Amino acid sequence: MRVLIVGSGAREHALAWAIAASPIVEALYAAPGNAGIAEEARCVPVSAEDLGGLVRFAKAERIEFVVVGPEAPLVLGLVDALESESIKAFGPSATAASLEGSKAFAKDLCARAGIPTASYRRFRDARAAKAFIAEKGAPIVVKADGLAAGKGVTVAADRETAYNAVDAALIERQFGEAGAEIVVEEFLTGEEASFFALSDGENALPLIAARDKKRLRDGDDGPNTGGMGAYSPVPGFGAALEGRVMEEIVLPTLKAMREAGRPLKGLLYAGLMLTEEGPKLLEFNVRFGDPETQVLMMRLKSDLLPALLAARDGMLKAFDLRWRDEAAICVVMAADGYPGAPKKGGLIRGLDGASADPAVKIFHAATRREGERLLADGGRVLSVTALGQSLNEARASAYAAIDRIDWPDGFCRRDIGISTSA
Ligand code: AMP
Ligand code: GLY
Repeated sequence: MRVLIVGSGAREHALAWAIAASPIVEALYAAPGNAGIAEEARCVPVSAEDLGGLVRFAKAERIEFVVVGPEAPLVLGLVDALESESIKAFGPSATAASLEGSKAFAKDLCARAGIPTASYRRFRDARAAKAFIAEKGAPIVVKADGLAAGKGVTVAADRETAYNAVDAALIERQFGEAGAEIVVEEFLTGEEASFFALSDGENALPLIAARDKKRLRDGDDGPNTGGMGAYSPVPGFGAALEGRVMEEIVLPTLKAMREAGRPLKGLLYAGLMLTEEGPKLLEFNVRFGDPETQVLMMRLKSDLLPALLAARDGMLKAFDLRWRDEAAICVVMAADGYPGAPKKGGLIRGLDGASADPAVKIFHAATRREGERLLADGGRVLSVTALGQSLNEARASAYAAIDRIDWPDGFCRRDIGISTSA
């Protein structure tokens, strides 16, 4: 089978690595890919958001299956565009991608379907939003409705911060149209977990849970980022909790999407808060998580590609995937300046030595090659990932690998997977 992966992050590198190992793959391409993905797939210089360019490439190269990594092309309608040319694609239609593309849509769906989540109100008027915040008090959470590159959520410890977040979205329009509406919601406390399930519209296949560490600095300090590390399994996330998440969140969501005339195919990513009352939904995504996918692919024993195809073809019912019992961890190395303006162009050396340990796999995000030299080319640059008999063992391997990487402009959290911050 001729397969194209869309995207250029470490998530897409992990997907490319897993898919390249499938015996049914005949040719693997990535658009646009990166220097790491280039070791698994032929990279083509077409942007992930150039829908026309991607469809033209897929037709010209007789691509038979397209796996879309990031959310932006899904929300723009890439899967619809490909399918209308009879090219099979993994991922939701644009209408189903609203589950991620509009937090207001997702919250209304939860309310209709009785899915446990934070209580909320939607606002387009700043004065009304502030009156609601004044009444509810802090802490409180303000979210831009649309896609805001991970910057649209403010967890406000005091009212002033919440008012400022309202102004940033509704008055200053810092997120453009994505912030023309906001959701103001109840602050939830607990540990977070990300849970993943494949969906073919009708049937769901649970994958596994991972924990994403979103804050920039050790001890869960500093601003939120795209994710500075992840690990799986999540302590305490056993079969009972998984069953509850499937019954209370995943299956009712898929049913509500069908009832809304927007059946969801592809991936359902439930961002959860594990509260004292049970798991509650923080957000939905309709694509694989980054960096969670890096640990999921390390733990996956089965061939990924047939499962993605089954989700596309409505054939998930009889499907099963097998996972390793070992723990996997991913530590993200980012360029100085991230999540603001990262320092680009720094020389990265030592990756061969760092990945000599067979337990270690280094997935690339923003990297590029200039001749033989590997250069950093963005914010999150490397995902150093490792397997181990325990989380501690995986962690030791990942950090030993990191210590062998020579990249003066790079930094990482040092506490990913340490039990005190688990
Ligand atoms: P989201 O993009 O909606 O997942 O939000 C990003 C992060 O903000 C989450 O991973 C949580 O850490 C935090 N967050 C979002 N919603 C809430 C909430 N209702 N209560 C507490 N923290 C939240
Ligand atoms: N790890 C967070 C995300 O993929 O949205």
